[in-house]
Amino acid sequence: MSPETTESKFDFVCVCTGKDCCKHGAKKILKGYKDIKHLPGSSKRLKVVKMKCLDYCKKAPVVILQNRIVFYAENPEH
Ligand code: FES
Repeated sequence: MSPETTESKFDFVCVCTGKDCCKHGAKKILKGYKDIKHLPGSSKRLKVVKMKCLDYCKKAPVVILQNRIVFYAENPEH
């Protein structure tokens, strides 16, 4: 038996709020996404989700956007 699925009415952005990401600006990124209602080109509402460490700490801060990992660090490997 497979579970029933349906297309989400939301887009999701997941912001890592682990220790290293917070040290490198994750809270500011989180606030920035909370001020956005829709992603560019999408009519779906944007849901912002806080995540624990995503295991990319050396490239912090890290976000998952549309199933892609986004590295915001200007100088990764800090
Ligand atoms: S603390 Fe964000 S990836 Fe580890």
